[in-house]
Amino acid sequence: MKAITLTAPGSTDNLILQDIPTPAINTNEVLVQVKSISINPVDVKTRIGKGVYSYGGIKRDATFIIGWDISGIVTASKSDLFKEGDEVFGMVNFPGTGNAYAEYVAAPVAHLALKPANISHEEAAAGTLALLTAWQVLVSNAGIKAGDRVLIHAASGGVGHYAVQVAKHLGAYVIGTSSAANKDFVLSLGADEHIDYKSQTLKDATKDIDFVLDSLSAESIDQSLDVIKDGGRIISILTQITETLAQKAKARNIGISFILVKSDGDDMNTLATLLKSGKIKSHVSKSFAFNQMADAHLQVESGRTVGKVVVNI
Ligand SMILES: NC(=O)c1ccc[n+]([C@@H]2O[C@H](COP(=O)([O-])OP(=O)(O)OC[C@H]3O[C@@H](n4cnc5c(N)ncnc54)[C@H](OP(=O)(O)O)[C@@H]3O)[C@@H](O)[C@H]2O)c1
Repeated sequence: MKAITLTAPGSTDNLILQDIPTPAINTNEVLVQVKSISINPVDVKTRIGKGVYSYGGIKRDATFIIGWDISGIVTASKSDLFKEGDEVFGMVNFPGTGNAYAEYVAAPVAHLALKPANISHEEAAAGTLALLTAWQVLVSNAGIKAGDRVLIHAASGGVGHYAVQVAKHLGAYVIGTSSAANKDFVLSLGADEHIDYKSQTLKDATKDIDFVLDSLSAESIDQSLDVIKDGGRIISILTQITETLAQKAKARNIGISFILVKSDGDDMNTLATLLKSGKIKSHVSKSFAFNQMADAHLQVESGRTVGKVVVNI
């Protein structure tokens, strides 16, 4: 099969399209013929030697296949859960090795769900790592409830555009940040208010926030502390919480933590239902062919992605 291997951490030149053996499957795994792969900032970080190299126990000098988010068709099964011909999607083995940049992926059935028939492989692949992150932050960890005032940073990005929709689905009042260029997009997702981080300060733009999803920086977390209520909560998905931030939050009884998304088939099944009903929609702003993986990486690396970037095989 064709796969894109990373020969060593570095530039996109190190992403090499080559023929390698099709993987074998173990008990409780299926072989998925991949139709679409979504690309995340962690793919780029891993390519340059960070990302899962930091927490996945992967040897930096080993040839390795990046990628976790797939949608495709089951071609062999060692499980009663899925059979040959089923269309499935999911985030495979994160954090760890998903081996997703390949024509075939051996995937644990516990990380997959049936793809809703009414959404494309592209939309399904998009709705894996980024949507799982939004769900695990807002539902599993924060327990957002109707009426909560929720601030989503980078609301126009991969995680953000799903987080706005999930928070609205939970009945929250949602405020999203992005540049002015993406204001209409953020509002179209259902956000009640938009803040342009280039022309407005958080402090002047909002207040009385119950919950903040931060995917930007320690500085952004610090500024978010100025607009959050005493007893509120901040979850960071990028920056580890420093002692200074922790102390500042503790003084006002604000919960503050970092979380890392994890593969979870139960969550995938819930998300499949939401995608099927149209309550959550994937916005794929750019798609690329398999041999354009380098371009897909450069797009994600730009930090300007609107919604999601997907590669189709
Ligand atoms: N811990 C975890 O489990 C986990 C899971 C998923 C993602 N992450 C991390 O979370 C981060 C975000 O991921 P993502 O997939 O959402 O990224 P992304 O899709 O690349 O985000 C791009 C978006 O960020 C917006 N943006 C950039 N700078 C901004 C700023 N200062 N204020 C507000 N918006 C800004 C951009 O809008 P403009 O062009 O309008 O500025 C753009 O639409 C990444 O670092 C990723 O690695 C962590």
